[in-house]
Amino acid sequence: MDNRPIGVFDSGLGGLSCVKEIMRLMPNENIIYFGDTGRVPYGSRSQETLMKYVSQDIRFLKSFDIKMIIIACGTASSAVLPWHGKDDVKIMGVVEPASKAAASITKNGKIGVLGTSATIKYGRYVEKIKELRPSTEIIQKACPMFVPLVENGYTNSEVTRIIAREYLEDIKAFGVDTLILGCTHYPLLKDVICEVMGNDVTLINSGATAAECAADVLKSCDMLSDAKEGEYKYFVSDASEDFTKLGGLFLERPIVEDVKKIDIEKY
Ligand code: DGL
Repeated sequence: MDNRPIGVFDSGLGGLSCVKEIMRLMPNENIIYFGDTGRVPYGSRSQETLMKYVSQDIRFLKSFDIKMIIIACGTASSAVLPWHGKDDVKIMGVVEPASKAAASITKNGKIGVLGTSATIKYGRYVEKIKELRPSTEIIQKACPMFVPLVENGYTNSEVTRIIAREYLEDIKAFGVDTLILGCTHYPLLKDVICEVMGNDVTLINSGATAAECAADVLKSCDMLSDAKEGEYKYFVSDASEDFTKLGGLFLERPIVEDVKKIDIEKY
């Protein structure tokens, strides 16, 4: 047993969609979450900048005695993994677990990947799926308008439907039976995406598959927590009010704990 917390970070509050799944699957785990709200979005940054940000995010989380770090951000996972830093904690991202799930679920061998512009440019989901199942046909699409739509509360409105139809047109025509939601925010659009793609297409929530993978890893290493109830700590790099308000949407439960602001440039 290991009751040290799991560290999770994201460019902002989107990574809470992964935290929600960790809480559901492993209610005894203590979690420390960092949302880099002062430097969001990551989706339009260069690799050099992302390397710097992620190194700082990891250093911040490692200032606590943690047992694992989950990079809940699709963009950060795509830009920096595999991670070559010297680390005494396990570091995992969202690309590998989601790619594995998609490669094993698809029946017709056609997979779609949605993500931020940077995620699609790096093409890590494609790389990983091809490695696991070389015959797979894959189509990708950057959906830069999805993040602001979610953050402004347009998760189920007509404007979102119009944009989703536009983004998903080619993917639908390609005939995918499996679609990776390769960004933290997209699970909140699953109803609209499902409506456009049809019920026969399986949607893969990358944060949820990462949470499942973390649970498997911790279990196999006998490192699950036996705390009575998980304790949660939240940190951000800019104003915390919006995080508390919007974060509840991603977590599907209110954030009642204090959200502390830190200076990430110090790490
Ligand atoms: N968290 C990012 C991701 O999953 C989306 C928001 C951003 O661009 O920073 O790719």
